[in-house]
Amino acid sequence: MESYNIGNIEQIVAQVIKNLQNESGAASSAAVPTKGKTAYLVEKQKIEVKTLDIPAISDDEVLVRVEGCGICGTDVHEYKNDPFGLIPVVLGHEGTGEIVKIGKNVTTDMVGKPLKVGDKVVTSVTLTGDDEYTTLKPERANLSDNMAVYGLLPDDSYKFNGWFGEYIILRKGSSIFNVSDLSLDDRILVEPFAVAMHAVERAKTTNLLSFGSKVLVQGCGPIGLTVIAVLRTMGIQNIIAVDGDAKRLQLAKEIGADLTVNFKDFTGFDDMLAFVKRQTNGGADFAFQCTGVPAAASNIYKFIKRGGGLCELGFFVDNGNATINPHFDLCQKEITLVGSWVYTFRDYVNTLEFLKRAKGIKLPIQKLITHRFGLDELNEAMVVNMKQEGIKIAFINK
Ligand SMILES: NC(=O)c1ccc[n+]([C@@H]2O[C@H](COP(=O)([O-])OP(=O)(O)OC[C@H]3O[C@@H](n4cnc5c(N)ncnc54)[C@H](O)[C@@H]3O)[C@@H](O)[C@H]2O)c1
Repeated sequence: MESYNIGNIEQIVAQVIKNLQNESGAASSAAVPTKGKTAYLVEKQKIEVKTLDIPAISDDEVLVRVEGCGICGTDVHEYKNDPFGLIPVVLGHEGTGEIVKIGKNVTTDMVGKPLKVGDKVVTSVTLTGDDEYTTLKPERANLSDNMAVYGLLPDDSYKFNGWFGEYIILRKGSSIFNVSDLSLDDRILVEPFAVAMHAVERAKTTNLLSFGSKVLVQGCGPIGLTVIAVLRTMGIQNIIAVDGDAKRLQLAKEIGADLTVNFKDFTGFDDMLAFVKRQTNGGADFAFQCTGVPAAASNIYKFIKRGGGLCELGFFVDNGNATINPHFDLCQKEITLVGSWVYTFRDYVNTLEFLKRAKGIKLPIQKLITHRFGLDELNEAMVVNMKQEGIKIAFINK
């Protein structure tokens, strides 16, 4: 039997409460917080941490203690320029955390798994109303005007509506997934991998992706790298990764690319194009455009061979127009083009499956998270992200 001394009684009580929570799956009401910190983007390039009262949740809502959240390129766009006009806003949509209080009407997650206090969760898109896409085409609910994502919501009475904070309140209609069996890092990566999964699913609709396909991925930021990992896990081996950053290309190789092409190693675009054509015997069968750079969106057609396909997913924000030559780039080659926009619930289910398989083939996806910052360090985290010093920069609620 263990002996206790009076000096560490607080630690013991805390441990006993934790054990009880783990055994029963229910926290005592004393464990439910009444105040929490949340990180507001109050003006461009300025995040302030505020302590607010946590409103009581209803029977249809869930209070989650945030454990971590990746920082997306979209968060950085919002931080720099507020293109969606959301300021003041609590950002963070790649989040995960632990349920601390759950309304009695919320009993299961999206796939029918029971939900209880102590479970670890992630969220996909939330539908806030009905329209053609939510009712008649639910498999395309990502295209609905009523599609919302926590961390990109206007400020409202909920306050705790983004993952950059200590707590978040998940409302009625949220798409919650119970991911208690995943590590914190894997949970943070679910959302970005769902973006890649959706793009690959869109690409598959062209019937142009098969085992032997030569696939070019342009841009090896988090989005391009996750696309490469998904393709590799599907069995596609001939993956050509293009970027101008040697470190990102090195990770592209480790995560599944067969050939890496650094455009800075060439005298110009035509020189690089000739190299890629030589390596692919005339061009790629399929390409994924993952840069957000209009010039890259124009050039990518040149890498693709006749009868090939293209998935454009690089523009979550409007970065301007990209010019193509419709005669040479599209008609003459009969390119099949698909766009890709966020993800659906189904992509989350596939992503959870993907994470298991990626581990099975030993893809080092955990290397994607290169930096971790606390709540008070989010301005610094944004600056590191803007300088492209890492790959996936994560906020960890310590
Ligand atoms: N479709 C969607 O649903 C969706 C979701 C999330 C993000 N996005 C978009 O995806 C884009 C990429 O996101 P990210 O987080 O990986 O961004 P990122 O900026 O970290 O990465 C982009 C990469 O492209 C490289 N690049 C730039 N010009 C290039 C060129 N000409 N050729 C090859 N590589 C080039 C850069 O060096 C960089 O590594 C963003 O613009 C973002 O808006 C789309």
